[in-house]
Amino acid sequence: MAEKIRWGILGTGNIARQFARGLAVLPDAQLLAVGSRSQASADAFGDMFSVKRRYTSYEALANDPDIDAVYVGTPHVFHKENTLLCLRHGKAVLCEKPFAINANEAQEMIDFAREHKLFLMEAMWTRYMPIFVHLRELLAQRVIGDVRMIHSDFGFRARFNPEHRLFKPELGGGALLDVGIYPVSLASMVLGQPERIASLAHLGETGVDENTAMLLGYPDGALAVLSTAIRTSTPHVAILNGTEGRITIHSRWWVPSRMTVEIFGKEAREIEMPYTGNGYNYEADEVARCLRAGLLESDVMPLDETLAIMRTMDEIRAQWGLKYPVEQ
Ligand SMILES: NC(=O)c1ccc[n+]([C@@H]2O[C@H](COP(=O)([O-])OP(=O)(O)OC[C@H]3O[C@@H](n4cnc5c(N)ncnc54)[C@H](OP(=O)(O)O)[C@@H]3O)[C@@H](O)[C@H]2O)c1
Repeated sequence: MAEKIRWGILGTGNIARQFARGLAVLPDAQLLAVGSRSQASADAFGDMFSVKRRYTSYEALANDPDIDAVYVGTPHVFHKENTLLCLRHGKAVLCEKPFAINANEAQEMIDFAREHKLFLMEAMWTRYMPIFVHLRELLAQRVIGDVRMIHSDFGFRARFNPEHRLFKPELGGGALLDVGIYPVSLASMVLGQPERIASLAHLGETGVDENTAMLLGYPDGALAVLSTAIRTSTPHVAILNGTEGRITIHSRWWVPSRMTVEIFGKEAREIEMPYTGNGYNYEADEVARCLRAGLLESDVMPLDETLAIMRTMDEIRAQWGLKYPVEQ
């Protein structure tokens, strides 16, 4: 491996730009190349982030022998195809959330990576941030006892535009896969895999879920009460209620810098843990850590858990009967 992890970015949209900004603050990262479907976008992105190698196809990017890891930042429906393309060229891959459209696709990606002994990880960036590292320590120390109820939401108000990927069934639109995955992933991290799932959603005029409520039940009796939306804003808080106390991760909990730990009957304690960069640097750093250690997956976001999260979201969608055109 080179002195620095040499990155390629696949796609030049909103999140690809954020990821490039994240890479810029990492000492162990070099943004070597970008791949786009068009020269104009590749050049604009290249100019913005001083990227020398600008490819006008994803294939050409994947084919660059000097790239160690590719970040896939395309709309959900292309994650499988784009990830497999890079894996076939022997690259490590960090793939945006949702990892795929459904569990079948996720399984295919994971099987390929495992069979060919290649690194693969879901870009669930929140997990790698300092407060989340500390949160996992507090939970392991059972500071709030057994977690019995999680309340969490991620709803934001997007301008309605049937052509935007958020509202377009062909691009895997809807609240659940875009942002509902955050509370689902949080519940998975804390409580594991649910054994009971109940969900209601409102499918809007383009046929995708615009507001969604989910109830997840766990074998030990714990519950998660989760919600997500794309046409209204929700409080953006995550609350873990335990038998001995409560942890509140404050707004916006998925890009956190502050939480309150309250042991019942005692004074609450505020914990401030500011993040550096724009927060996307931590997931890239986790990839670097794993590659340097010769790991094929991260234990912070294991592939089996990524798959289980996709299965949970499949079941949630099945309850409201939403199938994407790509699944027909
Ligand atoms: N982690 C986070 O905080 C976060 C935030 C936002 C989004 N995301 C995830 O990142 C992914 C991309 O979201 P985004 O908001 O960045 O989307 P976006 O702004 O629309 O960008 C998507 C990019 O994908 C490429 N692309 C390939 N085929 C496309 C097609 N048929 N239609 C549109 N674009 C296509 C395009 O790049 P080229 O034209 O250069 O090929 C485009 O710029 C989604 O899966 C989303 O869930 C994550």
